[in-house]
Amino acid sequence: MTQLQKCDQPQVADCRQDFPALHQDVNAHALVYLDSAASAQQPTSVIEAVADYQREDHANVHRGVHTLSHRATDAYEGARDKIQSFINASSRSEIVLTSGTTESINLVAQSFCRPRLDPGDKILITHLEHHSNIVPWQIVCEQTGAELVVAPINTRGELDIDAFYSLLTDDVRLLAIAQVSNALGTVNPLRDIIPRAKSLGIPVLVDGAQGVPHMPIDVQSLGCDFYAFSGHKMFGPTGTGVLFGKESLLDAMPPYQGGGDMILEVSFDGTVYNDLPYKFEAGTPNISGVVGLGAAIDYLSSVGMSRIAQHEGQLLAYLMQKLGEVEGIRLIGTAAEKSGVQSFLVDDIHSHDLGTILDHQGVAIRTGHHCAMPVMDFFGVSGTARASLALYNNAEDVDRLVEAVEKARQIFA
Ligand code: ALA
Repeated sequence: MTQLQKCDQPQVADCRQDFPALHQDVNAHALVYLDSAASAQQPTSVIEAVADYQREDHANVHRGVHTLSHRATDAYEGARDKIQSFINASSRSEIVLTSGTTESINLVAQSFCRPRLDPGDKILITHLEHHSNIVPWQIVCEQTGAELVVAPINTRGELDIDAFYSLLTDDVRLLAIAQVSNALGTVNPLRDIIPRAKSLGIPVLVDGAQGVPHMPIDVQSLGCDFYAFSGHKMFGPTGTGVLFGKESLLDAMPPYQGGGDMILEVSFDGTVYNDLPYKFEAGTPNISGVVGLGAAIDYLSSVGMSRIAQHEGQLLAYLMQKLGEVEGIRLIGTAAEKSGVQSFLVDDIHSHDLGTILDHQGVAIRTGHHCAMPVMDFFGVSGTARASLALYNNAEDVDRLVEAVEKARQIFA
């Protein structure tokens, strides 16, 4: 047994028992799943909540007087209430259900920024962002003549905070920033940055995709205007996500898409839009997915986000230590504040080759550019191998990863 397991919280790592996908052999080895930053596995309670809904309660929401439609609506809206409470939003009107972080960010780009931007205005992002927090801003800048400004990072993969503050000027119309870098695991100092932006009157969008599964989130105490995240990275179904937005901002924004459910009244002379949050939820939503997301929130709440953060913090330290001992390793992303992720390369082995050899040993990691090509460019690599942690990982998973990496070295030696 490793040193870490002595101070590990067995009750958090024991959660792996609740995740059926983790209990299988892959390529004749017990699966070690270290790719939760790409998509997390689902506990039985989520799988069953979705199946029960499909088996017994499915109908369209907000549309029927019949019993199944009421049940479906209650389950769907019940999930919204759980999300509100989970991130401590002040009102359920502030919880817009989307297909994921990407749609949430595009919604803000098109409905909040596009009508407000003029040539010469600026959107500020950082060099750490995922493509979904870059491309929507490039599109809206092309549409409006605004300028996309990128704050630099240092060789540890941290934001260069002095340079960042020098770019946070009063012609910035929105700051869009990741809470946690998906490629490097860097945790940005939002508790310092957001008040500074707000003091200049700059609205702030936080990409919380890699934050919300790993730490307690309180959007009121964070002070952001928008917070975007995905269901499938927090043990819920794919195709679900959330945009939290302050009610006064959402209220003033035009709809993102037109269609059923986002209206109160339609005639050929015009349309009266629905109240928040439905104004932003055109068409039949992913009802079963949202029911599953509600179950995922129940699951996370039952484990406790603070305990999860503590468990993963210890495990990440162990992961960095053990990987760091491998000969020929290059750890990419060594920020002082990190969460859940370690990118690396070994000798001159291509990351895809490394990932393939690891898969042959039952170890699942992500390889490539991680939808963060500018981060790869900064480090002068085309891609990395990335191990990412979730509440169900333990020190044995790390040991298996390190053994598999050692084996890959021998194969390529
Ligand atoms: N954004 C996901 C990742 O980091 C897909 O892998």
